[in-house]
Amino acid sequence: MRALLISKWTKVAIFVICLIPFAGLLWRFITGNLGINPVETLQHGTGDWTLRFLVFTLCITPLRKLLKLPDLIRFRRMLGLFAFFYVCLHFLTYLGPDQSFDLAGMWKDVAKRPYITVGFTAFVLLIPLAITSTTGWIRRLGGKRWQMLHRSIYCAAVLGVIHYYWLVKSDVREPVFYGALVAILLLWRLGSWFSRRKSQPSVRVTAPSVSIDG
Ligand code: HEM
Repeated sequence: MRALLISKWTKVAIFVICLIPFAGLLWRFITGNLGINPVETLQHGTGDWTLRFLVFTLCITPLRKLLKLPDLIRFRRMLGLFAFFYVCLHFLTYLGPDQSFDLAGMWKDVAKRPYITVGFTAFVLLIPLAITSTTGWIRRLGGKRWQMLHRSIYCAAVLGVIHYYWLVKSDVREPVFYGALVAILLLWRLGSWFSRRKSQPSVRVTAPSVSIDG
C-alpha cells in the first residue's frame, strides 16, 4: 500500500481524476450541452465540486490516523488546491455571466444577499491558504503559525455549507448531508485536539525539571 501511495504515478493519476469534473463541464460547454440554463449548470457544477473537494481535503487527516496511512498527506495539498481551482471557476461564473464583470455591482450584491456574502467570505478565506500552500511558505511562517492559518479551511467549509443551505429553495437534503459530513470532521478534529491538550500538562511539568536538572 505504501509503495502505491508514494508512487509519483499515483499522484499523477489523482491529479487527472480531479480534473474530470472540469473536463466534463468544459466538454458540455463546447458541445452546447449544458441544458436550458447553461450558467446555472456551470454555477451548480463548480459549486458542488468546490464543496466536495473541501470535504475530501478535510478527510485526509482523519483517514491518515484511522487507517494508519501517514503517506496520504501527499495528496492533501493537491486536493485543497483543487477546491480552490473549482471555487475560482465558480466565482468566475458568477462574476462574468451574472454580474458582467461589474465589480461595483458585485460588491452591492455581496452586501445585499446573505448567501452571496457567506460564499464570498469562504472564497476570501481560501485565498491565503492557496497562496501559502507551498513548502517555502510553511518554512517562512513556521509550522505552528502555518497550521493555525490553515485551520481556517474548516471555517471555509462551514460557510460553504451555510451558503448552500441558504440558496436552496426547498429540498435541503444535500446541504444538510454536506453539513453533517463537515460537522463530523470538525468534531473529530476537536476531539483529537482535546485529547492532545489533556496529555500536554505532563509535558509542561517535565520540561522545566529537565532544564533545571540540566
Ligand atoms: C468555498 C466557497 C463556496 C462554496 C463551497 C460554494 C458552493 C456552492 C454550492 C454547493 C452551490 C449550489 C450547487 C447546487 O445547487 O447544486 C452554489 C451555488 C451558487 N454559488 Fe457558491 N460556493 C462558494 C462560493 C461562492 C462565491 C464566492 C460566490 C459569488 C460571489 C458564489 C455564488 C453562487 C451562486 C450565484 C450560486 C447559484 C445560486 C442559484 O442557483 O440560485 N458561491 N455554491
